Amino acid sequence: METIKLSNGVEMPLLGYGVFKVAPQECERCVSDALNVGYRLIDTAQAYFNEEGVGNAISKSSVPRQDIFLVTKVWISNAGEEKAAASIDESLRKLKTDYIDLLLIHQAYGDVFGSWRAMEKAYRAGKVRAIGVSNFQAGRFFDFAHYVDIKPMVNQLQCNPLVQQQGIEPILAEHDTKMMAWGPLGGEGAEGVVKNELLASIGKGYGKTAAQVALRWLTQRGIVAIPKSTHVERMRQNLDIFDFTLADEEMKRIATLNCHDTGTVNFGDPQFVKFLIETYG
Ligand SMILES: NC(=O)c1ccc[n+]([C@@H]2O[C@H](COP(=O)([O-])OP(=O)(O)OC[C@H]3O[C@@H](n4cnc5c(N)ncnc54)[C@H](OP(=O)(O)O)[C@@H]3O)[C@@H](O)[C@H]2O)c1
Repeated sequence: METIKLSNGVEMPLLGYGVFKVAPQECERCVSDALNVGYRLIDTAQAYFNEEGVGNAISKSSVPRQDIFLVTKVWISNAGEEKAAASIDESLRKLKTDYIDLLLIHQAYGDVFGSWRAMEKAYRAGKVRAIGVSNFQAGRFFDFAHYVDIKPMVNQLQCNPLVQQQGIEPILAEHDTKMMAWGPLGGEGAEGVVKNELLASIGKGYGKTAAQVALRWLTQRGIVAIPKSTHVERMRQNLDIFDFTLADEEMKRIATLNCHDTGTVNFGDPQFVKFLIETYG
């Protein structure tokens, strides 16, 4: 598995397995399958309600814990120094481990500076190997990174050939922050990526699917991709992207597919913010 190096020297796999919307009762089986087919990065979140399934799979697996890169995220309802600190211990308990490889703030709402102080403490205490954020768009990210002591090592954003996040790239590079792509295949029910004709036609030349071309395109940009599938065959397919290289001209043609550079979720929409605060704040 190819890796990238985070700003603190920690090596992170370039491809992982995500468990958003994987039902708690199915999660252990899915993560066990993912580990068996070769995934070594697992991405979960407090808000997915399946950390226990992830923990069960990892603790029962023959893959040594130190070979697995485990990611989870602090949810809005746990924002603030005290609540975030307690939630980190709760995540460790559910994940059945004494350290998390990468801990992210899930959304840029609530007392994120308080959460970050708790995360910095957990990092210094060795409970967490790396810390970062998710869904922090360019301006929000810049402000946050400017005022915190330890700079976010990762920003997890929606990113795929239709949502390319090119605008934020220089800002992340300025802070030595790596991008991690959620929704790398377009997400559940959205077939714009996996049925894209250009991606499929490029893939034909390599004996690969449109999904594999999308994942290869991300990882060739140095972006960590975390596709989700509950099907073992698709887990295998999504992992099988390291035996071909897209030509520069193909990378450029895929760049023309960009249609929502900053993503399909409007994080600045007051109705969206109101909903999140009223539901989880
Ligand atoms: N930070 C955040 O706010 C945030 C938000 C969303 C997601 N995430 C993370 O990112 C991960 C991935 O994002 P996502 O789950 O939204 O979407 P995704 O990985 O882009 O797409 C998953 C969908 O694609 C299907 N699929 C998987 N492999 C396929 C293939 N080779 N060909 C055709 N279809 C395929 C899956 O169906 P089957 O399962 O039926 O195969 C599922 O419906 C999540 O699981 C989560 O860990 C983070």
